[in-house]
Amino acid sequence: MSFGLLKGKTGIIFGALDENSIAWHVAERAHEEGARIVLTNAPVALRMGAIQTLAEKLQTEVIGADATSEEDLENLLTRSMEIFGGKIDFMLHSIGMSLNVRKKREYTDIKYDWMSKTFDISAISFHKLMQTAYKLDAMNDWGSILALSYIAAQRTFPDYSEMAESKALLESFARSFGYHWAKKKNVRVNTISQSPTLTTAGSGVKGFDEFFAYADKMSPLGNASAESCADYCISLFSDLTRMVTMQNLFHDGGFSNMGMAPEVLE
Ligand SMILES: NC(=O)c1ccc[n+]([C@@H]2O[C@H](COP(=O)([O-])OP(=O)(O)OC[C@H]3O[C@@H](n4cnc5c(N)ncnc54)[C@H](O)[C@@H]3O)[C@@H](O)[C@H]2O)c1
Repeated sequence: MSFGLLKGKTGIIFGALDENSIAWHVAERAHEEGARIVLTNAPVALRMGAIQTLAEKLQTEVIGADATSEEDLENLLTRSMEIFGGKIDFMLHSIGMSLNVRKKREYTDIKYDWMSKTFDISAISFHKLMQTAYKLDAMNDWGSILALSYIAAQRTFPDYSEMAESKALLESFARSFGYHWAKKKNVRVNTISQSPTLTTAGSGVKGFDEFFAYADKMSPLGNASAESCADYCISLFSDLTRMVTMQNLFHDGGFSNMGMAPEVLE
């Protein structure tokens, strides 16, 4: 169902790898709500091809950009503004990858150059995106910038490894840069802390399926799906949330405020 919440707005969506990706659902919902969007992902993800299917369906363009490259980000923002014939109203950073997790290095045996790369991809890229857009003056007044996070930024989930620190850094960038964006253009910057979700990034974490079932039981509303996360993102891109900024917003079916759920003991 469409409410026309993003009618006339333009946005860039990072991170739609396949139809399970949270960003894939956000792109579909943004299109449904009347936005014009540009899709982007790392060149290696573009070669996998699924994003082209989404682009055809939404009749939009795909511009490759490695989110750790300032040059790629500048090109992405400049070309997007050319396509839109104006500035940008919203951006979604939906990017995460841990080299140590992918290569199965334990948290107590971290390889630090991989850790730096993990931070660069999963968190510093968010600062780079915001700084590039800031310097290019690429955002419209009252725009919205959003990134996806996870509760391991606040609590310990051992198998999440160095992604925990990545998310803590990501959320901190949202607060710090949120100040500057608010002062410059009344643009808001937030992170959504999402439930475990069955995607490529999610299932890279050890024991993910068991943990997914545990979180589902711990959350009185159950785990929030990728589709419902997309709905929440749309609300934050819309004009209905103009005064929400510098927040980490839990979208987790109540998980973050639970201590113990009897369902887990059953
Ligand atoms: N799946 C979960 O359980 C879950 C829970 C909470 C938060 N999140 C977060 O949601 C976001 C999206 O993840 P997802 O679950 O949809 O998985 P996903 O694997 O579909 O998306 C991750 C995306 O990051 C992109 N990416 C990796 N390196 C990149 C680079 N250098 N430049 C540009 N893009 C790059 C990948 O190509 C991919 O599209 C991530 O930030 C993730 O940490 C996921």
